[in-house]
Amino acid sequence: MSPDDLTYFRSPARWLGHPTIFKSETGSTNDDARALGLRGAAAGTLVLADAQTAGRGRRGRVWQSPPGANLYFSAVLRPRRPLSEVPSLTLATGLALCEAVAALVPPEHTPQIKWPNDLVVGGRKLAGILIEGSLTGPSLDFAIAGVGINVLGATLPAEVAHLATSMAQLSGDLALSRGALLGRILTRWEAHLETLEAHGFAALREAYRARCVTLGQRVRGDDFEGLAVDVEADGALRLEGDDGATRRVAFGEVLHVLSAPARL
Ligand code: BTN
Repeated sequence: MSPDDLTYFRSPARWLGHPTIFKSETGSTNDDARALGLRGAAAGTLVLADAQTAGRGRRGRVWQSPPGANLYFSAVLRPRRPLSEVPSLTLATGLALCEAVAALVPPEHTPQIKWPNDLVVGGRKLAGILIEGSLTGPSLDFAIAGVGINVLGATLPAEVAHLATSMAQLSGDLALSRGALLGRILTRWEAHLETLEAHGFAALREAYRARCVTLGQRVRGDDFEGLAVDVEADGALRLEGDDGATRRVAFGEVLHVLSAPARL
């Protein structure tokens, strides 16, 4: 087994990643995890793929998922918090990724979180998160948290090369082990999910704010532009407009109006 072989990956976390179902190729790990969730799979069940043929991102975007290069995985989560708190799952996931990656790249390339949960380094995207829910009426049965991280690609597809980066580009370490990275992520992620379950996002807020690159930036939401001044106790982004009016953005995406080198 090569050090980068994911086939026999074993999660070092207590419940997250137990079981882990590895697929050398699949359509989308989010779809696989949803199917398992509908059949009653336990919280923490993880689908991990070496390649995806129909990987997707938020807003219907395609997530390029070639083999042998990156991490693509989705967990079945069964939070017992109210449905209104589901957006904070994405923030806790982004924080866990950020901490795990930060431990493996040189300090000058420490990643930051673009609210709510893109991992970026110098304005380029390193990882994305897609959270989907399965609802019965107004209540959440389970959530699927899907993560894609650019790990080993020293060169990226031309369409995204100016917008994205990979851990190999940042650390110059092409021998980086995807399994070791995933293990670190699952340990941090499990800890943050437990904190969220017990105390809500307020308990992760300071750690999140410290890593959030959106704070202090001018951003544009669907119908409002302003300065991002805070991440509130429930995870919403607070914007302050030029006229002093404030607005909360509880979910969705914002555009960094002046971010360089590219708009994410
Ligand atoms: C985004 O930034 O738009 C979210 C990207 C999420 C990609 C991951 S890869 C594993 C999982 N399966 C998918 O089809 N998407 C997510």
